[in-house]
Order: sequence, then C-alpha cells, then structure tokens
Amino acid sequence: MSGGGQGRLSGSAAIVTGAGSGIGKATALAFGAEGARTVCADINLENAEATAAGIRDAGGDAFAVAVDVAEEASAEACVKAALDRYGAIDAIANCAGIVRNGTAMNTDLATWNLIIGINLTGLWLMCKAVLPHMVERRSGSIINIASVGSLVASPSNAAYIAAKGGVATLTKSMAVDFAPYNIRANAICPGTVPTPLVINHYMNRGEVDPNDIAAGIAATEKRYPLHRHGRPEEIAALAVYLASHRESGFMTGSLLPIDGGISAAAWQVGQ
Ligand SMILES: NC(=O)c1ccc[n+]([C@@H]2O[C@H](COP(=O)([O-])OP(=O)(O)OC[C@H]3O[C@@H](n4cnc5c(N)ncnc54)[C@H](O)[C@@H]3O)[C@@H](O)[C@H]2O)c1
Repeated sequence: MSGGGQGRLSGSAAIVTGAGSGIGKATALAFGAEGARTVCADINLENAEATAAGIRDAGGDAFAVAVDVAEEASAEACVKAALDRYGAIDAIANCAGIVRNGTAMNTDLATWNLIIGINLTGLWLMCKAVLPHMVERRSGSIINIASVGSLVASPSNAAYIAAKGGVATLTKSMAVDFAPYNIRANAICPGTVPTPLVINHYMNRGEVDPNDIAAGIAATEKRYPLHRHGRPEEIAALAVYLASHRESGFMTGSLLPIDGGISAAAWQVGQ
C-alpha cells in the first residue's frame, strides 16, 4: 500500500515523534505505507531523514523535522512545519522517549527531570502545540506511547514509571477535555520491544552482556506469558488502528496493553 489513495490513512496527515528509531520509526513507516502524509520528527535529524526517505522510497509522502519535544519552542516549530507543508494534522503519535535506571532513593534530580521532561512534559508540549489546530478542525487522534510501566512497575525504573503513569492519566484527561471537539486520545502500553532504548537499558542494569546481546535479550523473554518480546511493527499496527477514525472512532481515553500478557499475570505457571 502506498500514498496513492488506497491506504487505511489515505488523505490524512500525521506527525510521529521519535520517528528516527524503534517504535516511532515503525509507526512512521506504517503510517506512510497506509497513505498518511507523514512528518518524521526526532531529535536525531539524520535518523528521521532516513525514515522519511524510506516512506518516500515506498511511494509515500513524508519529510523530516528536527525536534526536541522537551523544548516548547521546538515542539511548536515542529507543528508549524507540519501545517506549513500539509495544511492539516489528523493524528499525532508521540513516540519520543528515553529511559534511565534508578529507584526512588538513588535517582538524582537531574535524571528525574530529564526523564519527566522528555517522556511526560515533552509529550504534553507536543499535544499542547497541536491541539489548537485539532480543536479548530473538530477532528484529531492523539496516540501516546505509554508503557506497560504505566500499569505495573518494573525494578529500578522509578522516574520512567512515574512519567509513564503520568502519560496514562494525561491521556485520559485529554480524552475527557477534547471529546466535545471530536478529538480522541489513547495510550498504547507496550511490553518489551528490543529497540536501542531497551538494549541499552538492559545492559545498564547488568541483565544483558554487551558481548552477547542476543542471548541476553532472549533470556528476558521468559518473563512474558507468550515467551517472546514484541516487534516494533506490532506496536505500529495498533497505532495505525488508532489513527484511523473509521476504525477506532468510538475509542478514546483507553490504555491499551500490547505486552505478551505480562500485565495480566500475577505470576507464571512453573515460576
Ligand atoms: N522498546 C520498548 O520495550 C518500549 C516499551 C514500552 C514503551 N516504550 C516507549 O516507546 C517509545 C519509543 O521507544 P523505543 O523503544 O522505540 O526507543 P528508541 O530509542 O529506539 O527510539 C526513541 C526515539 O526518540 C528520540 N528522542 C529521544 N529524546 C527525544 C527528544 N527530546 N525529542 C525528540 N526525539 C527524542 C530518539 O532520538 C529516538 O529516535 C518511548 O516512549 C518508550 O518509552 C518502549
């Protein structure tokens, strides 16, 4: 499927943050493949350009924008660039994020502020920048990449879990406030998807040996009832569904785990 008019998102335009890597990259590629004109936004412009080129090579319409979501002026400039180019924004997928280790006791304030600043405040700033346009059009879909960590905690992840919990409740807040304007807000709560973010995080926690990353990552798959990790394309498929008003038009304020069953399990048989 290309941007030629047959796709599930044909005729729409979307912003994807974090589009240079991992889940954001897969989401941007999926949006583009389903016919959305796609703004690939990332703090790493080179990687965002590569994603946009991938969409164009497949016959879609995309361009890249450098954005630091944690800076209000940068978030506003990103939305302006999208509107200047495409004239409208139907959906935003907020995928930019980072992770650092630490409990509530040993996380330092700078790390706390960094994690909250990008994962929660940055996500809000992108929504704040795009909402006036969506309100004016009486239409929009906000897709926030939260985490299974929005629902349950994992060890030594305090700031990240706090930020992702905030994303979950901010999503509900926006769903309530903007439903009268036909704007939907939903949060996707992925379990582990072995992207650069996760691989570095697991290495920093000592769970994965840098000399044998594949074996280390594979060992952590046993935590999941389905005994495997997710793929970026599986998360992207849910984002496409949420971006499509035709398909998900009755869904707003929802937190959607896509996590191999881990948030459903108190413990696993045999463990
Ligand atoms: N991978 C997982 O297992 C997993 C699980 C649950 C939630 N998530 C969430 O999914 C989202 C994407 O993560 P990923 O695993 O694809 O990671 P990733 O590291 O592959 O991609 C994250 C992208 O965000 C960009 N980014 C970081 N800071 C930014 C900023 N200030 N402004 C703009 N862009 C910025 C990075 O450059 C990178 O391209 C994150 O919000 C993450 O918390 C990931």
